[in-house]
Formats: sequence, structure tokens, C-alpha cells
Amino acid sequence: MARKKIIAGNWKMNMTPSEAVSLVETLKPLVVNDEVDVVFCVPAIDIIPATEAAKGTNINIGAENMYFEEKGAYTGEISPLMLKDAGVKYVIIGHSERREYFAETDETVNKKVLKAFEHGLTPIICCGESLTQREQGITIDWIRQQIKIAFLNVTADQAKTAVIAYEPIWAIGTGKVATTEQAEEVCAAIRVCIGEIYDQATAEAIRIQYGGSVSASSAPELFAQPNIDGGLVGGASLKPDFGKIVNYK
Ligand code: PGA
Repeated sequence: MARKKIIAGNWKMNMTPSEAVSLVETLKPLVVNDEVDVVFCVPAIDIIPATEAAKGTNINIGAENMYFEEKGAYTGEISPLMLKDAGVKYVIIGHSERREYFAETDETVNKKVLKAFEHGLTPIICCGESLTQREQGITIDWIRQQIKIAFLNVTADQAKTAVIAYEPIWAIGTGKVATTEQAEEVCAAIRVCIGEIYDQATAEAIRIQYGGSVSASSAPELFAQPNIDGGLVGGASLKPDFGKIVNYK
């Protein structure tokens, strides 16, 4: 069975609640495409107003992060129960900015992934190498390690529904998109790794996105690759261009 493409916006720390509503209003006629799952991952405070504004459309509202406990004394954190109750289905886990600025590790990513599944949320699990790692020729080894730890104790049935976002750190927000060959090579290696951890059926079912300076002009070629099942889009998801990315064909 062909995998359905999934194209997700990552708004990062942009858009106040009222700006979020206007952005959803602007984008909603532009992102209509039944062949693709469309997700807007928004700041926690925007989830409820954005969900309201997206009612009756094909837009799914997602979160950018969550904590790995249900509730308690964790000031400032957002729990999977809160996301679930707000109607969220997708949650980005382990974005490289969270790893860099908020000390997330492969181990916390794994805990969050397990919690997300426990509560019926679909994690968009991020991985990616730095420029130094790419230059040292250790990209594939590094990504395989990130994937193996992220999926510890995740069942095959859960893994089949997961989304992985391969985002080379050097390509994020830099305008320096990976070449189609570089992106496809790593996404294919991730699929092989999932096949080794689980089995062929799981490897074929899991969806793998590319992220890092995706634009309306780079999307068509990237998304046409056999192992790239869509994209995680930062900067361009805040603009009408996101409509062109969703309708890349
Ligand atoms: P970018 O961000 O598209 O602005 O490079 C992608 C991401 O960080 O998810």
C-alpha cells in the first residue's frame, strides 16, 4: 500500500494566539489536498484557537513538544493528556532546537515517544546530523543511533504509525536545503534501520519526512523520492507558500 504523504508546518516560537487564527484563515483555502495529511504544529498557547479556526477543514493541529509525565509538579510543561483533550493528534518530539537549547537527549526523546503512543498521539520524531558530523562521514551511523534509541520499547504496531522527520541541522533555517540525493540517501537508510529493528512491513508503513529549508521550489523533487513521504517545514509554513508546498505536484 502506498504511504500517504504528510506535510507538517512547524511554526516554532512564532504567532500570538490572534495571529495564529489569522494565519489559519489565510492558509486554509490554500492547503486543500485530500492526498496529503496536512498538519500545523503550533505553539501550545495557539493550539485551542488554531483548532477552532481550522474546524471543518483538512488541517490537523499538532504540538511542537510535550513532557513525558501525565501531570504533576513540572512547572511550565505541557502533558500528553492536555494535548489529547485539546484535540491534538500529532506532536513533534526531539526537534534539534529542543536538543540544542533545552537539553533534550535521545533518552528523553524515547520517553516522550513512549508517552505519546500511550496516549494515542502520533509522534513526529526528529533526527539529524550537524555539519561537522556530515563532514566526518558519520551521518548514517549517527542517525541510526538516534533512531534506535528513539524506538526502544516501541512496538511494531506503534512504529508503523509513527512519523520520522530527517532534518540535517545545517539545513534548518539556513536556506541551505540538502540535495535530493542527500535527503533520499538518509531517509532510505532510516527505513532500512526500521526494517532491522522490526520487519519489512513496519519499514514500509512508517512515514519519513525531510525537513530543512523546504520551499515551494524544492518540495516537488524532494517529495517525489521513493523514501521521502513529505516534509517538516519551518519558515515557509508561515507563508502562503505553504499552500504550494502542500500542493507540490
Ligand atoms: P526550516 O525549519 O524549514 O525553517 O528550515 C525546518 C524545521 O526546523 O522543522
